[in-house]
Amino acid sequence: MRVDVLTLFPEAFEGPMTTSMMWKARDRGLLDLHLHNIRDHSTDKHRAVDDTPYGGGGGMLMKVDVIANAIEAVKDTDQTPVIYLSPQGRLFSHAIAAELAQHPRLIFLCGHYEGIDERAVDLLITDMISIGDYVLTGGELAAMVVIDAVTRQLPGVLGAEGAHERDSHADGLLEGPHYTRPQNFRGLEVPEVLQRGHHAEIETWRREQAIRRTWRNRPELLFKAVLSEDERYLLAKIALDEGSLSR
Ligand code: ADE
Repeated sequence: MRVDVLTLFPEAFEGPMTTSMMWKARDRGLLDLHLHNIRDHSTDKHRAVDDTPYGGGGGMLMKVDVIANAIEAVKDTDQTPVIYLSPQGRLFSHAIAAELAQHPRLIFLCGHYEGIDERAVDLLITDMISIGDYVLTGGELAAMVVIDAVTRQLPGVLGAEGAHERDSHADGLLEGPHYTRPQNFRGLEVPEVLQRGHHAEIETWRREQAIRRTWRNRPELLFKAVLSEDERYLLAKIALDEGSLSR
């Protein structure tokens, strides 16, 4: 997948995009990342990229002509999503990451200051994404979050085939706990079922743990999760066991 990022701070991507899985994906040619400095598209002799808003109100806005130049310099076809990272966008999720991973190419626009001239949204942006209900200083961290989550979905990026399908959220539930050696640490034992190594038993146990953890930490996810009849029964038992007041 080719990803173009338009930003005032290309250097912000240095660490996260040159480390671990992101670096491996780039090294193997699975993620072809291009960083572009929006300031290079200013036509102003002072290389200005922002201006004061009409109507007053303080703060500065990124200029529509500069944004248009920056996007048009990288855009190939109308099929390529042009995604603006903004707290006003649709809330990012596993499902959106999977949807974006289907595209051969994505363009991200990172905002700064108070935001961007609305005409850039009207004319050039095809999607707006928020990574949560809080305001960041700029879109760079949000773009990196989205790029990381999308890259994990690309075939060949994670070692084991289908490993991303076992991630938390992939089936609407959180993942249960995992353990490695030592078998006993400060009196805490690895659950016996995992030590016995009976495959079907382990699968049932893991599913139960996933439901239990989702009930405890993100109960609202259970409204949408696909559960079998047995699992619904189990959920009712967990809810009774744990009681809503003790959470
Ligand atoms: N830019 C500033 N805050 C943001 C958020 N919560 N999500 C995406 N982009 C942002």
